[in-house]
Amino acid sequence: DFITKPFPPDVLRLKVQKALEVREQRERLLQENEYLRKDAATDEGFEAIIGQSAPMQKTFNLVRKVACADSSVYIYGESGTGKELIARAIHDASPRAKQPFVRVNCGALAESLLESELFGHEKGAFTGAVKRRLGRFEVADKGTLLLDEIGDISPNIQLKLLRVLQEREFERVGGTDTVRVDVRVICATNKDLAGEVAAGNFREDLFYRLHIIPIILPPLRERREDIPPLVEHFIKKLAMRTRSDVTSISPEALKSLMAYAWPGNVRELENIIEQSLVFAEGEAIEVGDLPTQVSGAQSGDHLNVPDDGRALPEILEDLERQLILRAFRGAKGIKTETARLLGIKTSALYYKLEKYAIDDNVL
Ligand SMILES: Nc1ncnc2c1ncn2[C@@H]1O[C@H](COP(=O)(O)OP(=O)(O)OP(=O)(O)O)[C@@H](O)[C@H]1O
Ligand SMILES: [Mg+2]
Repeated sequence: DFITKPFPPDVLRLKVQKALEVREQRERLLQENEYLRKDAATDEGFEAIIGQSAPMQKTFNLVRKVACADSSVYIYGESGTGKELIARAIHDASPRAKQPFVRVNCGALAESLLESELFGHEKGAFTGAVKRRLGRFEVADKGTLLLDEIGDISPNIQLKLLRVLQEREFERVGGTDTVRVDVRVICATNKDLAGEVAAGNFREDLFYRLHIIPIILPPLRERREDIPPLVEHFIKKLAMRTRSDVTSISPEALKSLMAYAWPGNVRELENIIEQSLVFAEGEAIEVGDLPTQVSGAQSGDHLNVPDDGRALPEILEDLERQLILRAFRGAKGIKTETARLLGIKTSALYYKLEKYAIDDNVL
């Protein structure tokens, strides 16, 4: 666009305005493009995470939503429920995807080691600090930092974390320079942190800084319909590594897996599939290939009392589920008959079948 001289001021203003509009439009297009690309990346990132159950579908939606926000995410779930996997998915679906994703296991290190792991140290900060080392916060700059097992950190580290989260700056151990970082923090825990706060073991102010967007991963026993697709996924994933010819699982063996309580959740399922792949001799995993604690899980008459430190209400729920499952199978899936065997109303049974995700698939 050029302007013929001489020009009245109005024309100039209009031209400038037009130029600005064009630029704005182009920027918007670029952003949209970026957004679309991100969307495609999201779908890729989700490939390895299995979960058709309602609670997992809800979780995936939440992951998509929170990925683009830059807020801190707090992931809570029992051991082996997939917290790390979800943290990675959030990073991969976020605008930070091309930047580093860094994980620190806060539960595995002694306090002084953890401090230097997180914030780095200067040369000579302590015996053995022969050169400057960058901490995880610096390594993760512009990316995402997963603080795993956050429930285990000491009061001193809690205070330092609070400062980084509030002010985005810190000093390396033994240093005086202030380091500024741009890091998105995700934390994961299998401890009831709110309880730790109430007990005075965890700073309340830090808890609220971290607990902005909570994601709760349900235990596997509360989403049993995810078991068959997970089994299929793990057979595919692990067949190569174990040099196994197994391609499937027998209906009987799957029934045992459906009935088991899974205190170690998806990680335990993955381990058990790996073991079974090693032991199996045919092309399918049979009941005999499963470890006894699992293969015994559906054997008719005795109930499996969970002894993994769960609270009484959860133990009772698990027993309730097992009893309903047994009656449902005994009644060959006829609901009025199942309710009669259990001595409850059919309407109550419907509610409980829904709650425990028991349907014809378990027959
Ligand atoms: N939904 C899922 N789909 C596929 N694999 C899964 C799923 N959830 C968990 N896994 C697998 O199970 C294992 C445990 O997952 P992960 O390490 O994310 O759990 P975690 O909650 O961090 O456990 P912990 O509390 O013990 O650290 C990993 O190998 C992971 O790939
Ligand atoms: Mg973990």
